[in-house]
Amino acid sequence: MKLSEHLADYDSDVRDTILQIADTCVRISKGFASRQSQSDTQNVYGETQMALDKWADQVLIEDLRESGLVKYLASEEQPDILEFDSQGDLGITLDPLDGSSLIGVNLAVGTIVGIYKGGILMPGQMMVGALYVLYGPLTTLTYTLKKGVHEFVLDDTGQFVLQEESIRIPEGKIFAPGALRKNYLAGHLKWIEALEADGYKIRFSGSFVADVHQILHKGGVFTYPGLVGNEQGKLRLLFEGNPMGFIVTEAGGATSDGRRSLLAIQPNAVSHRVPIYIGGKREINLIENINKEGYE
Ligand code: F6P
Ligand code: MN
Repeated sequence: MKLSEHLADYDSDVRDTILQIADTCVRISKGFASRQSQSDTQNVYGETQMALDKWADQVLIEDLRESGLVKYLASEEQPDILEFDSQGDLGITLDPLDGSSLIGVNLAVGTIVGIYKGGILMPGQMMVGALYVLYGPLTTLTYTLKKGVHEFVLDDTGQFVLQEESIRIPEGKIFAPGALRKNYLAGHLKWIEALEADGYKIRFSGSFVADVHQILHKGGVFTYPGLVGNEQGKLRLLFEGNPMGFIVTEAGGATSDGRRSLLAIQPNAVSHRVPIYIGGKREINLIENINKEGYE
């Protein structure tokens, strides 16, 4: 089944926006070879932009502006929310190319999208849907519109076709722990030690979207925690935590900042950073319980 058929019953603005993003991502997937260099600019977070980061950002913004379906657009590569002429009220968040520091070593990277109505700066639980496109050996698109999580694969004819419907996160003993162990907060360290004692194996590639994709399919947990001297951590609530957390939660998992669901947090700005835990309910309950007991 094609992506367009799978989306047939949804509100046309949301459906057509997802199909537009899918088309643009096919274009992005074909643009890697000629755009592998670093640019001489940094984004608002001080990260060196790759030529591909800037290009993916531009083509997604242009295509979504021209679609006339999107009113608000926030991108990780832009300092402010963009507002377009549109009859509709869709709000889109974009991490145009997550994990882009891995382009030079040919590991999987991806595009992460959150879908809102009526604005963007609201808790993630207000999202109407989310999706990500992973550019790996296969190009896959995984979406939820709150009726299950479904995955499509780009086939030889350039179509996204259904690969797996109604994905549920299994139990699994994998963990993807970001940042430096010497900077862990006490509660986080206790949790990591509990996972290690329980036989969890490390799987951390440096591409958030690819690492969470693996957890969605194999179980376990991804984390980029708050740290000593940097309690908000590194990753962004709007562009990374909320869309991927929303998808994994919809697949039967959970997401947290270590105390409560990421999806309950009111963002204070588009650049809001947050400690991130995404994975199975068991692992997420464990970190929240450890922190409640006061190991901080
Ligand atoms: O977008 C930020 C990001 O590249 C994520 O994809 C990844 O999980 C993280 O940063 C890696 O951070 P670090 O370089 O500190 O391991
Ligand atoms: Mn990112």
